[in-house]
Amino acid sequence: MQKARVLFVCLGNICRSPTAEGIFRHRVTQAGLADRIEIDSAGTGDWHIGRQPDPRARAFASEAGYSIEDLRARQVSAGDFERFDYLLAMDAQNLADLQAMQPPGWDGSLELFLSFVPGLGLREVPDPYTGDDDDFRDVIRLVEQGADALLETIRRRLD
Ligand code: 4NP
Repeated sequence: MQKARVLFVCLGNICRSPTAEGIFRHRVTQAGLADRIEIDSAGTGDWHIGRQPDPRARAFASEAGYSIEDLRARQVSAGDFERFDYLLAMDAQNLADLQAMQPPGWDGSLELFLSFVPGLGLREVPDPYTGDDDDFRDVIRLVEQGADALLETIRRRLD
């Protein structure tokens, strides 16, 4: 694989998937692979299209050393199955919604993001939207583990 194209998907594209985009981009840039790995995020829902990430997601990302200020929410579309090799869902509902959209014959990877982390014992990044500060901190911690594991997997697959 010459180049990997990764799309992170959650429900609103204002909490979990922009956090994943920002953290993974940071890891990929540090690894010197920014020209080999394309990264984006989207939501299955349409409520927040065009909006910045949630202020709490921005604040906790910033506290942990990541900037997601410049991201804007968009909704996932059928064309994303052509544009991306990896569609990575934050939770089981996001995965089911994407599976319902998957075109026949598409040969990319549609998986739960945390499935790349061996032995984690957790399959989903829980939705923090109606939660508290600790829920947003948990998102950062889980996404960091997912991003490290994903980078290792993709690095092995790039030639
Ligand atoms: P996200 O969180 O899927 O991680 O962006 C949510 C954001 C907004 C809503 C739900 C989850 N909402 O219902 O508006």
